[in-house]
Amino acid sequence: MRIAMIGGGYVGLVSGACFAELGHEVALVEVEPAKLKSLRDGGIPIYEPGLDTLVASNAKAGRLTFGDDIASAVAGVEAVFIAVGTPTRRGDGHADLSYVFAAVEQVARVLTGYTVIVTKSTVPVGTGRRNLDIIKSVRPDLDVDVASNPEFLREGSAIGDFMRPDRVVIGVEGERAREVLRRLYRPLYLIEAPILFTGLETAELIKYAANSFLAMKVTFINEMADICERAGADVHDVARGIGLDGRIGRKFLHPGPGFGGSCFPKDTLAMVRIAQDHGAPSRLIEAVVAVNDARKAGMAARIISAAGGSVRGKTIAVLGLTFKPETDDMRDAPSIPIVGRLVEDGAVVRAFDPEGMVQARPLLPANVVYCRDALDAAQGADLMVVATEWNEFRALAPERLKEVMRGDLIVDLRNLYEPATMKAAGFRYQSIGRP
Ligand SMILES: NC(=O)c1ccc[n+]([C@@H]2O[C@H](COP(=O)([O-])OP(=O)(O)OC[C@H]3O[C@@H](n4cnc5c(N)ncnc54)[C@H](O)[C@@H]3O)[C@@H](O)[C@H]2O)c1
Repeated sequence: MRIAMIGGGYVGLVSGACFAELGHEVALVEVEPAKLKSLRDGGIPIYEPGLDTLVASNAKAGRLTFGDDIASAVAGVEAVFIAVGTPTRRGDGHADLSYVFAAVEQVARVLTGYTVIVTKSTVPVGTGRRNLDIIKSVRPDLDVDVASNPEFLREGSAIGDFMRPDRVVIGVEGERAREVLRRLYRPLYLIEAPILFTGLETAELIKYAANSFLAMKVTFINEMADICERAGADVHDVARGIGLDGRIGRKFLHPGPGFGGSCFPKDTLAMVRIAQDHGAPSRLIEAVVAVNDARKAGMAARIISAAGGSVRGKTIAVLGLTFKPETDDMRDAPSIPIVGRLVEDGAVVRAFDPEGMVQARPLLPANVVYCRDALDAAQGADLMVVATEWNEFRALAPERLKEVMRGDLIVDLRNLYEPATMKAAGFRYQSIGRP
């Protein structure tokens, strides 16, 4: 089948490449000139494990093409996917739908035959119908259907998530559009991926409900960690003790500095607004947003207090900047408020991240020192903060750290190390929710 993918970011590029890998012909449209140039030159504008080879092989096979001309991309396609950003709208927490509406209008103006316009971006309930209104207002003659196909991939394991999904959710009305999407996803149906057909509004809500639930789970274990710290309990054992209950499940019970990233913060905020707009406010999700915001803001204070009340003049190594490992995505990363506050309070920050340093630069204070690797960051540091759990940090030998650091304090916001090992190596070691 031939399809077009509007937007070549984390979702558009991964799903476009994966659809091509499944055998479809995908014309990807990206408006940002630097990203498009990189793709056309055989590069990848983002870091996602395995994506470079997947894109290269499908581009070589002619199944994946890149351009900025929507008209030629959508010519003769059966479906157009909208995978543009839906960031938080300034001021009110709603999802900013301007990119989605602009893309839908651009597509509608140039379509020639029956097409299904599928929203892959995360969009509030009712957006699919608003898209249809936009299409009808610019092209009343057009034979189209709209559908919602929210994406559940996780950065860092995006290709596996797309190719072997827990489920595919498709919100669609009418047999004709349903058949197009059924054929498109047939290769995943054949490997028995559950495919859930729903109405438009239901599919749109499923995405927000899923992210809000996961954000709630993370926030729950973070609160348990706070209680553990005061009660002398171990949050990892609590997580295991509750997670072995099949009704609860073990995943997403890892405590940390509060959730960040390109999805949970904006999607929980949008969920709060969606619920309010529908006259059914969600006090639970409102609490998740408030608790998480307070937690992220409080992390720097935690570090400063561990350092004896002041970090003025101190050198602090910060390991990891991205919101999670295996991505270069810095959107809403907990490291941003942490590093900002430490620098504001007079610390010299030596930072290292395996993939995110280019993206971090414009978001962090100008005087942050970017280092070659973790040991380089730790050189002469009075204390070290682990902000993101990259695997390579797990392998750091405590003795080597001890040699290069000036001080003996480690604040581990991701619980990477064994407290006993770090203490034995001579460190004062603070982690989250463990004695
Ligand atoms: N990143 C994730 O892990 C993830 C996971 C699931 C769902 N989502 C959702 O998917 C959507 C996209 O997220 P993302 O992380 O890929 O965003 P992104 O910012 O990385 O990518 C969006 C891309 O669309 C391009 N674009 C915008 N308008 C365009 C237009 N009119 N024509 C062509 N290109 C255009 C932008 O230049 C950008 O490259 C969001 O709604 C997000 O919530 C993201």
